[in-house]
Amino acid sequence: MKVIRSADELKAQIKREALFPVGFVPTMGALHEGHLSLVRIAAKECSLVVVSIYVNPAQFNNKDDLKNYPRSLEADLSMLGKVLAKNDIVFTPDDKEIYPVEDKRVFNFGNLGNVMEGLYRQGHFNGVAQVVSRLFEIAEPDLAYFGLKDLQQVAIIKEMVRQKGYKVRIVAAPIIRENDGLAMSSRNRLLTQELRNKAPVIYNTLSVAASMIQNCDIPEIKNYVVRTIEKTGGLSVEYFEIVDDKYLHPVNAKSEMKKRKSYFGCIAVWAGKIRLIDNIELQLV
Ligand code: PAJ
Repeated sequence: MKVIRSADELKAQIKREALFPVGFVPTMGALHEGHLSLVRIAAKECSLVVVSIYVNPAQFNNKDDLKNYPRSLEADLSMLGKVLAKNDIVFTPDDKEIYPVEDKRVFNFGNLGNVMEGLYRQGHFNGVAQVVSRLFEIAEPDLAYFGLKDLQQVAIIKEMVRQKGYKVRIVAAPIIRENDGLAMSSRNRLLTQELRNKAPVIYNTLSVAASMIQNCDIPEIKNYVVRTIEKTGGLSVEYFEIVDDKYLHPVNAKSEMKKRKSYFGCIAVWAGKIRLIDNIELQLV
């Protein structure tokens, strides 16, 4: 694989390769199997794969989170070296390559941007949209790969692509988990051992919620989820919402749900100072 730092050089190299389709996997590094699963799918489906590693300041609504965000470029490159082919590319730009001039664009995603992560992390999705649109304009991929771990991010990116008229197809890939069920995340490595041991309760509880949906109404399920996670100690639920799969509109009563349609139970949990998110598909049969 080739490691490229400059946006112009990336453009030129993709042009030189003249391969189709070009697959793109944007990441913020501190890679784990969740990221690699996206890279593997891209490698299977595309003739040329570009992976970006860039910790994007614009999407951090919390300064400490940005400062403490794990960075491990050498380990990342060695992991990617085992998955990528010789002509594939890792793009590792600095701030000047991504934002040569200040990006003042303000996106409007309507309801999609106003619920859950959009509500609790003000400005977050605007920053995500800024960086991803910039990356799409540099790499001009045919396909781009995103994880369903960030379900709302996938919906936002699809909407951004629609609004901007980009010719990229967004591919959403399943959540990869640790053996104990915890969704893989770069932030997991910041957890204390004690909280890391407790964190699997998040997915275990979501799994119970997914089966409760057949017999219980939504307030009862919400109550169960929050109570079960918080009684573990050290974990605090920021939100738990059940939303439809397209507009991410929260449903508050089972009577609003249609049978055999997909919904997602989405959660954000503070584990000490570390914020974790996860989700699970729910279906009324
Ligand atoms: P990052 O958190 O590094 O994630 C990069 C991609 O990996 C995202 O599409 C994310 O959903 C996916 N991913 C993370 N953990 C996963 C898991 N356990 N299973 C499956 N996929 C997983 O998301 C971002 O970076 C940024 O917002 C970015 C899109 C790069 C823009 O800066």
